[in-house]
Order: sequence, then C-alpha cells, then structure tokens
Amino acid sequence: MRTAYLASIAALALFSAACGDTETSSGSGTTTTSSTSPGGSGGAGGAGGGDGGGGAPACDAPFVSKGPWALAIDPTHAKLRWEACATGSDHGVHFAKEGGGAEQTATATETPITLTDTYKAALNPNATPDYAGTYYSQEAALEGLDPGACYTFSLDADPTRKGRFCTARPSGDDLRFLAIGDTNPGLGHTAGVLASVLPEKPEFTLHGGDIEYYDSGLETWASWFPVMQPMLEAGAFFPAIGNHESEKSTELADYALRFFGGAGFDGGETYYRFETAGIHFFSLNTQESIGQGSAQATWLEGKLIEAEQSPGFRFSIVFFHKPLLTCGDTDDNPPARAYLEPLFLAHKVPLILGAHMHGYERFELDNGLTYITTAGGGGLMGDVDKNVARDYCDKRAASAPAFHGVIFDITAGKIEGKVIDESGETIDTFTKDVP
Ligand SMILES: [Fe+2]
Repeated sequence: MRTAYLASIAALALFSAACGDTETSSGSGTTTTSSTSPGGSGGAGGAGGGDGGGGAPACDAPFVSKGPWALAIDPTHAKLRWEACATGSDHGVHFAKEGGGAEQTATATETPITLTDTYKAALNPNATPDYAGTYYSQEAALEGLDPGACYTFSLDADPTRKGRFCTARPSGDDLRFLAIGDTNPGLGHTAGVLASVLPEKPEFTLHGGDIEYYDSGLETWASWFPVMQPMLEAGAFFPAIGNHESEKSTELADYALRFFGGAGFDGGETYYRFETAGIHFFSLNTQESIGQGSAQATWLEGKLIEAEQSPGFRFSIVFFHKPLLTCGDTDDNPPARAYLEPLFLAHKVPLILGAHMHGYERFELDNGLTYITTAGGGGLMGDVDKNVARDYCDKRAASAPAFHGVIFDITAGKIEGKVIDESGETIDTFTKDVP
C-alpha cells in the first residue's frame, strides 16, 4: 500500500512539474456542494471548482484554526493575523518585549469570509481538506512599539498559539533574515529545511512565492500551516506571489491574500515594500508584468528613487518569484531584465532574489549585481543545469539541486549569505561588499 502511495506521489509529482503554470486540479474534479461550516454557522453552497464535498469537522474551542503570524512591520507598528473557525472566539493578544518588558494587549478585528469550495489533497488522506464554510480572519494592529525591538506574543484564545516579530531597525543596525521559496511541505522536505535554518534566529522571512502546492496532491492550506508554523513564529513574514498561489480559481483571494496580503506598504495586495535598518525591500508579483511600462515597474522605479532620497538609506533588495535569469529548468526573462537591471544599478540594488526554479543558484555579474535563485523550500527538486547554455551561465558562481534556505547577515558595508540545506549542511557562503 505504501509502495503504491509513494509511486502515485512520484507519478503525480513528475506530471505536475512542481512549478508548472497550468492550472490543474488535484482532486476528483467534481463540484463542491458542501454546506458545512467549520463554525456551524451555515456555510454557503458550492459554486463549483472544488474537490468534492464532505463535511467539515466540528469547530471546537478555542476556535483558532490557523496561525498566528506577523507582517507589515515598521519602526512602531506590526500586524498580527490568525484565523478562527467560529465567531465569538477571544480576539485578544498579549505581547511584550523579548527578554522582559511590560505586557501589553491588543484586540483583533474580525472579518468573516464564506468559502464555497472544498479542496482536498487527492494523494494524501492525512492532509486536512480546506473545507468550505465560514471562517473568521483576525487582525490585531499593534501601535506605539519601540523601534528595533523584538517582541513575543500569544493569543488569549489559546496561549500555545504564539510568535515573535521585530520592529524595523534604525538605519545602520545589523540585520539577519531568512530567504526561502517554493515551500511544499507535503513532499516531506520543508520541515527539515526549517529545522536547519530557524536555529539561526532570522528576524523575518522573505518568501519567494509558491507558498503552498495544491497541485502536488499532497497538501492543503490546512495541512500547510502546522508544518510552517515554526517559520511564522520566528518572525514577520514577507512573501512574493508565485504561480502556485492561483492553482484554484479562488485560491489567490480566498487563501494567499487573505492570509498574507498587505504584508508591507504601498503598491497593493500583491506587491509592496518595507524598510528596516536603512535597507528597503521590494516584493514584486511576477504573475503580472514587471516589464517596462507595467504598473509594477513604474511603481518600483518611483519607490527606488524615493528610497534613495530617504534619511538613512543604505541600499535596496528586490525579490520576486520567477527569476530574471536562471540556468535551470524554467524560463528566464531577458526583456524584463533588460529594463530592470539598469534601474538596479542606478538606484543601488545590489541583490536580487528569485525563486520558481527548484534549486539554488547564485550569479555574480560583472556589473556588480548578485542574483540568487532560492527555491529549495520543499517543492519537487528541479534540474538546475537544464539551460546552462544560456549566455550568462558562465556568471553562475554557485548552484545546487538542494532543499535549502538562505540566511542573510547584513552588517556595516557587507552582505553575507549562508545557504543551509535540509540536513543542516552549509552548501554555499558568500560575502558581498556594499557601499
Ligand atoms: Fe513557481
């Protein structure tokens, strides 16, 4: 039985080519007509597109069904989010400075959403389906925080649900963060990657997109959260939008953006910026054009200039899902690169992070730019050498078909990177001087 199960996983994984752009259904293809609400408050009938019905289990006290996690940090603010499966749960959160400090409290605003489709992991009966029904998104806006301070928090509804975030640091501070991409915990590698990188204590995570994979047939958002919770607990979460955030017709709005939209500032729900320690981070959405004349590129150029002119500016980092250059088994994007690279050079963007090609790559270009592909968060490993004939591949300084995350340390005049695989081994290190 287990052999057959693993064989079916392998077959589906090969078929679905983890990063493919086609919208496929991993389920039975039947229309959802579930009317079960996780909270028992009357979910809506199915509108089609789901993976079959099946009643949701009862939503029991303390009613917290996902999270919490932190996002949208600035020097004095942060947002905390979680999901409840019933209305009437406790909306309170307690927080205090890490290492001691007065306890403070905040109260979340509750926003109900009724989901009409049930989505199942077709190959994994142990993955809790994403049941249709009414859910209650919770968001607590924390204000008056101290700059450059790390806080821990816990939910009043369930104090075992907890986390940590750090407010934006003053310019010049050192900074450590994690970059990861293409997390598909159902395949079994993501937990190991997280166990290897999180002891490094990154204070936030940049995610390069393809956050969850219905298409693998092995997971749902409901099964994603428990595995990913250690990462969400470690610090604020700043994702980019990948192609797998839209595997189902309603997934982007009902799941990815409901959970992680508005992670930063400006832009919109799917692209944004934030700043800490004088470093400006820009998350782009490569599901929409980032080329010349696009809304995003126009926004990016304006904000890069604005960042440069802001007090304490050090440099900017841009991250997004589909890489501009890769020697692996996905497309590159020469037209967008031709437009964006001069902007990067003109406006002090020394480091660009992509994902999507399942593996690791680091390019060191003659013009001083470093491009990294970090997409080893657990999705089916790709062929990192499939397109080594591309004319820039002699500039690829390192590569590996490895499940991994990248720990970045930024200190005075320097960016250092340490690439750690799922076994805990360091597979690449680099140091980059920045003015
Ligand atoms: Fe992708």
